[in-house]
Amino acid sequence: MQHILDAISAGDTSSADFANLDLPDHYTAATVHKDEVDMFEGVTSKDKDPRKSIHVEDVALPELGPGEAYVAVMASAINYNTVWTSIFEPVATFGFLERYGRLSELTKRHDLPYHVVGSDLAGVVLRTGPGVTKWQPGAEVVAHCLSVELESADGHNDTMLDPEQRIWGFETNFGGLAQIALVKSNQLMPKPDHLTWEEAASPGLVNCTAYRQLVSRNGGDMKQGDNVLIWGASGGLGGFATQYALNGGATPVCVVSSEEKAAIARSMGAELIINRSEEDYRFWNDEGTEQNPREWKRFGARIRELTGGEDIDIVFEHPGRETFGASVYVTRKGGTITTCASTSGYMHEYDNRYLWMNLKRIISSHFANYRESWEANRLIAKGKIHPTLSRSYPLADVGQAALDVHHNLHQGKVGVLCLAPEEGLGVRDHELRATHLDAINRFRGV
Ligand SMILES: NC(=O)c1ccc[n+]([C@@H]2O[C@H](COP(=O)([O-])OP(=O)(O)OC[C@H]3O[C@@H](n4cnc5c(N)ncnc54)[C@H](OP(=O)(O)O)[C@@H]3O)[C@@H](O)[C@H]2O)c1
Repeated sequence: MQHILDAISAGDTSSADFANLDLPDHYTAATVHKDEVDMFEGVTSKDKDPRKSIHVEDVALPELGPGEAYVAVMASAINYNTVWTSIFEPVATFGFLERYGRLSELTKRHDLPYHVVGSDLAGVVLRTGPGVTKWQPGAEVVAHCLSVELESADGHNDTMLDPEQRIWGFETNFGGLAQIALVKSNQLMPKPDHLTWEEAASPGLVNCTAYRQLVSRNGGDMKQGDNVLIWGASGGLGGFATQYALNGGATPVCVVSSEEKAAIARSMGAELIINRSEEDYRFWNDEGTEQNPREWKRFGARIRELTGGEDIDIVFEHPGRETFGASVYVTRKGGTITTCASTSGYMHEYDNRYLWMNLKRIISSHFANYRESWEANRLIAKGKIHPTLSRSYPLADVGQAALDVHHNLHQGKVGVLCLAPEEGLGVRDHELRATHLDAINRFRGV
């Protein structure tokens, strides 16, 4: 791998030289193992430890197919999907790989007894497969995580609707938490020049998801002046949703669980903040069997107090079961609840009278299409939206990085250095960086 790193570090290696680099037949990757999916049987979710299930080991370089690229991964990041994969919840991801493997001769490569995980990367294109014309070896890139086949008509208005839509590194193999990744070339986007490798890798999945869920016509279609309720406003998704609300002239109402997280939301420019721990909302009884509408009302009253009597136009939902009833209740007449997840449980309950009588809409959202991802990355590259990286781990410690996210001990995003030997490398536009340095470093060291 050293010769690949040397070529990247040299800064003046030509595309032809990159194309001629010898590729190793093995590389180091973070994996989970098919024969270990039952290892946590009888253990509570919280006690399932990604450090036990994630291995960092040598795996064989897969064959490069048409329309694909190998990328030398300088840095990656932890997403919640790696937490799900590593604790084998709600299902083990090997079923996804088996199903993908049955699709074609080429996709069989993905069905292996190990799963290379990870849905973000920043790095350098090493080789492209037949049919790739847009990207050349040597290109500095980030990758979004939408993998589509696009053989069916269904996906051609919105690629998220492709029947063979998958999340790379979660529902496919050869993900980004590794020294080399295999991606489709239509996952590639230019790396923002003013960011380090680990900063550039970190927005990816959550930034694109937040863009579609809140800004895109396919999601919340947010407009100036909207009041946007953002759960987990300093977390992975929420850290970007808060920035999109502020950047688009809306007013975020940020929900967080500590003063430290409130300070981060404030540093992004948010003024209306609810500390859910301090105010101790109990939307459910202790058994978790019944909700308490009086608590929804208390929450709604607090929102009105902050907004000067206004209700919420768009709720940015992802905690799911725990909060969904309250989210539906506090939305204004005609307003929208956008949901992309159910971290606290996927069997949601809400009082439908508040929905239909007030003509509220629930809109589902999932990742983002290439166009939306490109737009989200473009805003990062222009310095209008910033990475939310708080710390980075070496690839060897990826299990600990996933544990931090699993236990909600992190802020914003947790990065992982793959080939990058240290943090701080890869910046090409120092002038733009200097302009935004405070914003880029906002989540650092907290
Ligand atoms: N469909 C998609 O495309 C997509 C994409 C990305 C992520 N997701 C999913 O979205 C969820 C969040 O992802 P993320 O990357 O933002 O995770 P994250 O970095 O852990 O942030 C989520 C935040 O939500 C808040 N939260 C957690 N449980 C809560 C609860 N019971 N009640 C209220 N707030 C709660 C926490 O903030 P506080 O403690 O500060 O309140 C937490 O920091 C995960 O389930 C993930 O799998 C889905």
